[in-house]
Amino acid sequence: MTGRTRVEDLPKAELHVHLEGTLEADHLLELARRHDVALPWRSVEEVRAAYAFTDLQSFLDVFFVGCRVLRERQDFADLAHRYLLRAAADGVVRAEVFFGVQTFLALGVPLADQLEGIFDGFDRARAETGIDAALITSAQRHRTEDDALAMVDALMPWADRIVGFGLGSTELGNPPSKFARYFATVRDRGFHATAHAGEEGGPDYVREALDVGVERIDHGVRSAEDPDLVALLARERVPLTVCPLSNQRLHVTPDLTAHPLRTLLDAGVLVTVNSDDPSYFGGYVADNYRAVRDALDLTDEELERLARTSLSATWAGPPATS
Ligand code: ADE
Ligand code: ZN
Repeated sequence: MTGRTRVEDLPKAELHVHLEGTLEADHLLELARRHDVALPWRSVEEVRAAYAFTDLQSFLDVFFVGCRVLRERQDFADLAHRYLLRAAADGVVRAEVFFGVQTFLALGVPLADQLEGIFDGFDRARAETGIDAALITSAQRHRTEDDALAMVDALMPWADRIVGFGLGSTELGNPPSKFARYFATVRDRGFHATAHAGEEGGPDYVREALDVGVERIDHGVRSAEDPDLVALLARERVPLTVCPLSNQRLHVTPDLTAHPLRTLLDAGVLVTVNSDDPSYFGGYVADNYRAVRDALDLTDEELERLARTSLSATWAGPPATS
């Protein structure tokens, strides 16, 4: 029989969550009022109605509007603190949180306000719940590689609090090879590295991500279309940070009963379950575990394996030298 384990009781890591994607509709409206930011929505209902996405780009267009309300150090601190308390309630003991500084630099928010706010939120949540949080700063692939390299340099004053670098935003047309120098630079400087790949892009995007030296693949679900790639991921023990409700809401795999997580798990790939942008996709990490449990008939042992894998795939230690 499945479903006897309370998902929240499984100690787990969340390895794929965008801090900006944890901004709940009511908090978004409150910040818009506080900072006098004009939005296309006036109520929580209108905000939620805008969350009817057709693909990744339709989501990103809304996500970047939401980012406009985060203006001050305290906003970033509150956002990080709220997310971590919510994650701790889901059994998360370690969260590796993506954040895209380029968005806020373009909106005129100084890096120090962004980062020191986030670290305040991390420290407060840790003092209150014991949850351990680390920051992954993510470059946006719709921008240039030179922009990404300039971002890395600008972040160096906070290097000791940044665990790794990622790559997100519009995947199609912006393959990982466009960022080969970015990944070589961050690896040379001793950081961990990961990239979104195989969300909307095909298995070739995942292969390219491996070629540029990332240690984890964010999403990676389209790898399942290529059995040789699946075998490679399993053999090389490359963790995938899979986000089922995101895949459903962005029509990557709209029918969760056909989600590739089952194929990947059965092939021995290190699959982890995560929330991506929980306020936009209707579920935090435990909701994602329950959604795949119900859709794919996962046993308690399989749920425990997913949680254990997430803990073993964290970057709590230094990067392996390649
Ligand atoms: N940024 C926030 N969420 C994302 C996703 N699912 N894919 C790519 N970039 C993102
Ligand atoms: Zn993501």
